[in-house]
Amino acid sequence: MKYSRISGMGHHLPEQVVTNKDLEKIIDTNDEWIVERTGIHTRRFIDPEKDTLANMAAKASRKALDRAGLKTQDIDFIVFATITPDYFFPGSGVLLQRELGLESIGALDIRNACSGFIYALSVADQYIKSGMYNNILVIGGEIQSTALDLSTRGRNTAVIFGDGVGAAVLTSSDSAGIHSTHLHSDGNYAEELYVRDPGSSRPREERQPEQILDTSGYKVYMNGNMVFKHAVVRFTEVIGEALETNGKAADDIDLLIPHQANLRISQFIQKRMKLSDDQVFNNIQRVGNTTAASIPIAMSEALEEGRISEGDLICLAAFGSGFTWASALITW
Ligand code: UT7
Repeated sequence: MKYSRISGMGHHLPEQVVTNKDLEKIIDTNDEWIVERTGIHTRRFIDPEKDTLANMAAKASRKALDRAGLKTQDIDFIVFATITPDYFFPGSGVLLQRELGLESIGALDIRNACSGFIYALSVADQYIKSGMYNNILVIGGEIQSTALDLSTRGRNTAVIFGDGVGAAVLTSSDSAGIHSTHLHSDGNYAEELYVRDPGSSRPREERQPEQILDTSGYKVYMNGNMVFKHAVVRFTEVIGEALETNGKAADDIDLLIPHQANLRISQFIQKRMKLSDDQVFNNIQRVGNTTAASIPIAMSEALEEGRISEGDLICLAAFGSGFTWASALITW
């Protein structure tokens, strides 16, 4: 029986640190509101002159490969989770393949928003278990800043999201690293958190750039309250599902790394599951909500900070647009 394990992690954050005070200068908001409602103090925004999703992903990937003790050429396949690809199509997986100079390996993009990294991990895990591939690069990356409505109209999303990329190398192994993944969706809530355009549901005339008068469909729409209420229920459910499937209890978790949606959501889950501060990792305070990138960036930082040791039981969980939600249970 083949299993998969994470053999290396890396992340890359763009240099520009954007504080709440910086946002106060362009939006009717304030530091107190943002910190109290979200826990966020700073986030990173790209420099469009030099940063692209593909080149940031290459930097994160090289760190992950280095830590895995592998060469770029050892990679057999790429799974890239993002909702902010460099182009509307093709996906960013092929651009990363080009950036890394990898010859003709397959590359797959996953568009499951905040749950994207766990979906990507699950897909890669199946390829490794089936024996099809030995080493897969699994990426979660986003450039949110260029799509945000950085005006008072967009303030409920503008203050939350940030840019960054996290990368994992998934490698075949004789013992289980990834024990299970659980994936869910409920499309009834698709329009509660979405970017509508340039979707194919729009009439032809509204997809012609010279005729677009109302560009609001290109900005993120989020019914924050609704998302929050569903998130706290689904997070708890899907973590419970991971534990039950593997005969584990909340006490057994060495580190829970939840998608960094909002610090209040993480704190709610921690309290509901009676987890100690040592059992939960959060970095949203510094990095903001980076959608598909948030879990791999947090994992990579947790490793750098020595919060994960060999043999630890790690639980990943996410909830977001779709709605989609997911969890993974991993022995490090
Ligand atoms: O990762 C993807 C999944 N996303 C999430 O999980 C996000 C979940 N939702 C949330 O995190 C929260 O709903 C938000 C942080 C987005 C909003 O917090 P909230 O406590 O739900 O606020 P609200 O939307 O109910 O708005 C309360 C008030 C409103 O003013 P009125 O109508 O009461 O006068 C908003 O206009 O706060 C106002 N408001 C702001 N005020 C200052 C909304 N955004 C801001 C802002 N600064 N940035």
